[in-house]
Amino acid sequence: MSGNLATVSYIGATILFILSLGGLSNPESSRRGNLFGMIGMAIAVLATVFGPRVTPAGIPWIIGAMVVGGAVGLYAAKVVKMTQMPELVALMHSLVGLAACLVGFASYIDTSAPLAGAEKTIHEIEIYIGILIGAVTFSGSLIAFGKLSAKIGGAPLLLPGRHWLNLAGLLVVIWFGREFINAHTIADGMTPLIVMTVIALLFGIHMVMAIGGADMPVVVSMLNSYSGWAAAATGFMLSNDLLIVVGALVGSSGAILSYIMCRAMNRNFISVIAGGFGTGGGTVAKKVGAGDTAPVGEVVPISALETAELLKEAKSVIIVPGYGMAVAQAQHTVYEITKHLREKGVNIRFGIHPVAGRMPGHMNVLLAEAKVPYDIVMEMDELNEDFPDTDVAMVIGANDIVNPAAQDDPGSPIAGMPVLEVWKAKTSIVMKRSMASGYAGVDNPLFYKENNRMLFGDAKKMLDEVLVALKA
Ligand code: TAP
Repeated sequence: MSGNLATVSYIGATILFILSLGGLSNPESSRRGNLFGMIGMAIAVLATVFGPRVTPAGIPWIIGAMVVGGAVGLYAAKVVKMTQMPELVALMHSLVGLAACLVGFASYIDTSAPLAGAEKTIHEIEIYIGILIGAVTFSGSLIAFGKLSAKIGGAPLLLPGRHWLNLAGLLVVIWFGREFINAHTIADGMTPLIVMTVIALLFGIHMVMAIGGADMPVVVSMLNSYSGWAAAATGFMLSNDLLIVVGALVGSSGAILSYIMCRAMNRNFISVIAGGFGTGGGTVAKKVGAGDTAPVGEVVPISALETAELLKEAKSVIIVPGYGMAVAQAQHTVYEITKHLREKGVNIRFGIHPVAGRMPGHMNVLLAEAKVPYDIVMEMDELNEDFPDTDVAMVIGANDIVNPAAQDDPGSPIAGMPVLEVWKAKTSIVMKRSMASGYAGVDNPLFYKENNRMLFGDAKKMLDEVLVALKA
């Protein structure tokens, strides 16, 4: 393939990647977006492998690597559960970081195209920064993987004077950067490069270890952003325009996503990165409020049969799915219930919180998989005002995203987080197995409200029973 054809292919691939990102912004166009991305990537790989910079002797190596990598990827995609997706993503980010490091070292010791003067300095800066970002991404993503898969505890590790430690690390990195640029031989430059790599690896570990379980979603999207910048840095080292553009696209979209998620969780982006917030996340409920008072009131259980009766009488229903729906894999039964009620003329809609579940778009993916029509799946802001006119709000395996303490209790750890106001409906029904707290580990006063009912049990099992009763 000639150089010109490769360039044209790269431009085509870049356009496809931009269209892909545009498509992924909406569930209806997301399949097309994915397709554009796949075609773009196929073109990019072919144009690179058969382009002017790969010699025929290199092709078997590349094909061998692609077969091994492809087989591992295919296996991982087949065995990974939807709820394990964030950890798989974290692991993949670590590979991008590792690749950036390896490319950095390889292009430093590569003497086939000697550079001099300003060009040499710029190339060395690219290498230094590329390895720096790559190493932080690599070790940070590995720790994120460990935390998300519960191989490492979720509690934040807070070393004394950690901000000073980070600052000292940064100063040492800058100092060794100067040494690296001033080195006359490759052997001389290797020492500062290796020292910087070790510091960057330690920094990545320290950064993610300091972040609590509750903030891990933001960390994954932040590492996604880093992996984009690492890819862009690799593009600079290899003078590959496509890699620069794609890396910048991933880097900036990851940064925007992190910002959106921080807003949805009412967290300050800088304080998330600085770390220290969030517990292991899970079952031990913290008292709501500064005064250590548990929510008061009575918990009223309801049966599947009674739930079906309420649904039969309702004219408008809003379903709020959460992490528990994903765990129970209840989305198909949810769809059956939705279909049945729609046929009976009930106005039924879904309210999706931006951080429902365990990854961005988690609920949208599950509902789309179950073939729930997109036009009844609404974002939180689109229907939060409609709860007072709603007969039944059905909460399926959600907890934090419907916690009124976020609005009512300034002392709550989730104070200020926007939530779906299900308690404003005539009746709210919460479907979960116990009184355990959600991810943020805080009690939920919703369960004790007068107009709330608790349908205890596995969401799939309970919904199956509701469906049978509805059809009876
Ligand atoms: P959570 O607050 O985690 O609550 C989920 C609830 O589902 C739990 O209280 C659990 O109660 C219930 N549950 C679990 N398995 C169930 C099953 N088989 N059947 C029925 N119920 C089941 O989830 P949420 O309301 O979706 O909120 C998401 C939380 O995760 C937020 O705090 C968010 O910040 C955080 N987070 C979000 C993301 C993203 S990006 N979406 C990523 C990581 C973390 P029982 O044990 O009593 O059944």
